[in-house]
Amino acid sequence: MENNLSPTSITHNLETRFIGQRVIYYPSLTSTMEVAKREAQQGAVEGTVVVAGEQMAGRGRKKRAWLSPKGSIALSIILYPSVVYLPSLIMLASLAVVHSIGEVTGLRSQIKWPNDVLVNGRKVSGILIESGVRGKIVDYAIIGIGINANLRLSDFPELLPLATSLSNELGRDVSPLEVIRRLLVEIERLYLALPVGESIYEEWRDSLVTLGKKVRVKSGKAIDEGIAESVARDGSLLLRHSDGSLTKIVAGEATLADK
Ligand code: BTN
Repeated sequence: MENNLSPTSITHNLETRFIGQRVIYYPSLTSTMEVAKREAQQGAVEGTVVVAGEQMAGRGRKKRAWLSPKGSIALSIILYPSVVYLPSLIMLASLAVVHSIGEVTGLRSQIKWPNDVLVNGRKVSGILIESGVRGKIVDYAIIGIGINANLRLSDFPELLPLATSLSNELGRDVSPLEVIRRLLVEIERLYLALPVGESIYEEWRDSLVTLGKKVRVKSGKAIDEGIAESVARDGSLLLRHSDGSLTKIVAGEATLADK
């Protein structure tokens, strides 16, 4: 499997206007989020992408570590959106991952609220959005995407039983280059569609594996249980409790009760 992730191999004939037209590649680094943040603070051009061959200190949501050894995909994209589009970034990033995995591998994936991408019920990709916001001014927003591409699960027993990889599901390796190039095209397409009112929200809602299921949601110290009834346009989850009451959860970690 060709594994050349040089900036030129990514940008060559890439059919985007700005996302991925500038790529910074590191064979190994701490976290693409860290480098991207520094770049953004120095005014990097919108759409700059930081890609790593492996991360030594990859970070996940809720201050968790994210394992991203060689063979996995780790990248961060720098954007300067208007504040009104910030909640849509989670939706568009997870949809772009679902679309690109489908197009490159034929695998069908689903989204677990808010933005884990699952194949056959196990996590194959995680997304982290970090932004610098002052009042209504967004200094930057960074979409970080990690995909377990070519990982032999037997080498990473700590990932089992909740995670999987594309190669594990397919029984063969995938081209990280192809997945990354497709992902950048998809992200730009969805990002440019935001102002024309195309409904990313509806597609994201319909791709959620969570809705209608009994879930347990951890947000901060609170744990809520109930049926995931729906999601609002700002991305929050509406949870129906057994006593009939409804809670709106803006951010949290959902576990399906049957898992
Ligand atoms: C999660 O599911 O908790 C989110 C994981 C996000 C991982 C990606 S890999 C690329 C980018 N760099 C990081 O350090 N984290 C994100």
